[in-house]
Amino acid sequence: MKLEQVFASYKENILPTYTKTPLVFTKGKGSRIWDINNKEYLDFFPGWGVGNLGHCHPKVMQAVRDQVSKLIFIPNNYYHIPQAKLAAEMIRLTYPGKVFFCNSGAEANEGAIKLTRKYGSSTSLGVNQGRYEIITFENAFHGRTLATLAATGQKKYQNGFEPMPEGFKSVKFNDIEAVKAAVNAKTAGIMLELIQGEGGVNVAGKEFVLSLRKLCDEKNLLLIVDEVQTGVGRTGKLFCFENYGVQPDIMTLAKALGGGLPIGMMVVRKSISETLGPGTHASTFGGGPVIARAALAVLEEAKKKKFMVHVCLMSEHLFTCLEQLKAKYGIIQQIRGMGLMAGMELSIEGKPIVEECIKQGLLINCTHDKVLRLMPALNITKGQINKAMVILDNVLAKAQGAV
Ligand SMILES: Cc1ncc(COP(=O)(O)O)c(C=O)c1O
Repeated sequence: MKLEQVFASYKENILPTYTKTPLVFTKGKGSRIWDINNKEYLDFFPGWGVGNLGHCHPKVMQAVRDQVSKLIFIPNNYYHIPQAKLAAEMIRLTYPGKVFFCNSGAEANEGAIKLTRKYGSSTSLGVNQGRYEIITFENAFHGRTLATLAATGQKKYQNGFEPMPEGFKSVKFNDIEAVKAAVNAKTAGIMLELIQGEGGVNVAGKEFVLSLRKLCDEKNLLLIVDEVQTGVGRTGKLFCFENYGVQPDIMTLAKALGGGLPIGMMVVRKSISETLGPGTHASTFGGGPVIARAALAVLEEAKKKKFMVHVCLMSEHLFTCLEQLKAKYGIIQQIRGMGLMAGMELSIEGKPIVEECIKQGLLINCTHDKVLRLMPALNITKGQINKAMVILDNVLAKAQGAV
């Protein structure tokens, strides 16, 4: 297919739900990706958080190829070895409990919401507790299904899809008093991203998270941590909650866990792991053999000590470079983030910067209008970071000059 034919097919045949950049990609390797004209780009936002190992990681490819030749799919009313291995590995790497497999971040969060409601409606001394409300946070993002949109709580995503499912209360992020004020007899849980990605790379404070854990313990609420974007090594630990020294009751994962294939998962703490019994929840494709093999390959890489040491070293280098840019250009308001999840808040619109970076061969993202988001593959090299910084420097210099 030629470039124009690709665009024409999309225009005619695909619902226009995405704001699209006119680039057609044909191959990728690590942090490098090529378009249909064979132009090479440095990918600093691979797969919207999917590409923690970069494009086409050889171990993932090998695992997938091997599994595809044996058994592609088997439904969840039977057993298979890759799923058994992946579940055991995930529990070993997180906390005692059980997992549920699905296909996306929204689906994992939907499962967490259902589990929390089931838990909140359980009977105590023969009386249904009737607790179903979940406290969420301003600028959160938990997905595009109706329940996760309600949890997301942002009007710009909800417009036209009302009425939203009830039972969600959105309060100010990093404000424990606001959370305490929102808790009532109907509250069943609290759901948050430890770093709000779509919301502008806003990092939860340590004290705040510790206080949330304490509050949940005191009030018998479930703490749901959405690690769809922060999981699988992104923040310098295998899971972001490890940076805070607290464990969630439910952690949701997706994106990077599949190495490029669709996966979703919730990891449920042991004490509540019998809440969803047979027939209460399901997902046809969840944790199939091919995706399970891919995820095992991803974890095999990500759990290596030297891999995480590399992430921390590259993080230090990236943030040093970004701070240097901040010192140079007044249009940069703040640098924030953790590990290899970085946000640069500007005083101007970020879209033209992203477009200019693309022209110069660097793929980045802009969220919340003014926040540039960089989330390179975790195996990025220092040389690649330097190359990206030269491009960003050029583009920012031009933008600063135009202010
Ligand atoms: C924190 C978070 N949760 C949930 C989702 C939804 O994931 P998915 O698009 O796989 O449904 C996203 C997607 O960007 C996300 O960043």
